Amino acid sequence: MKKIVLLTILLFISSCSPRPSIEPPPLPKNDFLIIAHRGASAYTTGHTLTAYEMAVQMGADYIEIDLQMTKDGKLVALHDSIVTLHDVQQAVADVTFNEIQLHSPGSAFEKDHLAYTLPNFDDLRIVDLEEILHHFGDSVNYYIEMKSPEVYPGIEEELVRQLQNYNLLYRDDLTPKVFIQSFDETSLKEIFAMEPSIPLIKLYKFKKNAHLSKKELRDLTQYASGVGVNEDAVTGKFVDSMHHVGMLVHPYTVNDEEKIRNLMELGVNGIFTDRPDVAFRIKKEKSNMD
Ligand code: G3P
Ligand code: CA
Repeated sequence: MKKIVLLTILLFISSCSPRPSIEPPPLPKNDFLIIAHRGASAYTTGHTLTAYEMAVQMGADYIEIDLQMTKDGKLVALHDSIVTLHDVQQAVADVTFNEIQLHSPGSAFEKDHLAYTLPNFDDLRIVDLEEILHHFGDSVNYYIEMKSPEVYPGIEEELVRQLQNYNLLYRDDLTPKVFIQSFDETSLKEIFAMEPSIPLIKLYKFKKNAHLSKKELRDLTQYASGVGVNEDAVTGKFVDSMHHVGMLVHPYTVNDEEKIRNLMELGVNGIFTDRPDVAFRIKKEKSNMD
C-alpha cells in the first residue's frame, strides 16, 4: 500500500514539474539596431544588390530582405507576391525565377525622390537570396522576412537550409548574423522547431496603440525574441511591457528624423528605415552625448 501511495505522489510531482523547454536565444538589449528596410531604399530600388551595398556603406547593422518563393522553389527578394511580366500581372508562385528576372525593378522607383544619383536604373536586377548570401557572405547581418509563407509550402526549410549552407547561424557574441521576421506565427514556430538558435521577430500591425494581452505575451515569449511594430502604434508603455518580458522592439518603417529620435527616447531596440544614413548619424550623435 505504502508503495502505491509513494508512486502516486511521485507521478503527481512529475506531472506538475515544468517540462524541459527550449528558450529563444539571448540577445543584447542595449544596442540600437539600424535595419535597412529593403536596403537603402530611400535612394534606389529596394531589394537590389545596389540597395544593400549602399545600406552597408551608410552604416546599417542589418539589411532587410523580404522573401517570396517562385514556382521553381527559388527564394526571391521581393516585397509583393505579384509581379508584372509583359504587362500581365502574375503571382510569384506561378512563375520561374528566370521569368521574374526579365522584369526590370529599376523602372518602379520614383526617380523624383532620388537623393543620390545612380549610374543606371536599368542595371538593377531582381535577385534571389542565394545570390545575396553569396555576394555578402558573413560580412553583413541579415534581417529576413518570410512574406505570405502560407502560399509557399517549404519556404521555412529552404530558408534554414540556405542559412546553414552559408554558415550564418553561428554567433561569436550576442549579436546574431540573422533575424527572421514574419506576420505568420505558425511559420515562425516552424522555424523555431527546426532551428531554435535563430532569433525570431513577430510582426504586428496595430490600428491603435500597440498592446498584447497576457495570453498573447505568454505565447509570444515561447518562441520569439522580439516584435516588429508599425511605428505610429508604439508607445512608451508598450516598449516597457515588452522589455519586461525580455522582448526586443523594432518599429517599422521610420524615416523621419524627429520620429527616430522620439523612438530612441522611448527605448526601442532599433528601427527599420529606408534612410540608414540618417539613423546612423542620429545614433552617433547620441552615443557622443552619452
Ligand atoms: O518587415 C517589417 C516591415 O518591413 C513590414 O513592412 O515593408 O515588409 O511591408 P513591409
Ligand atoms: Ca519587410
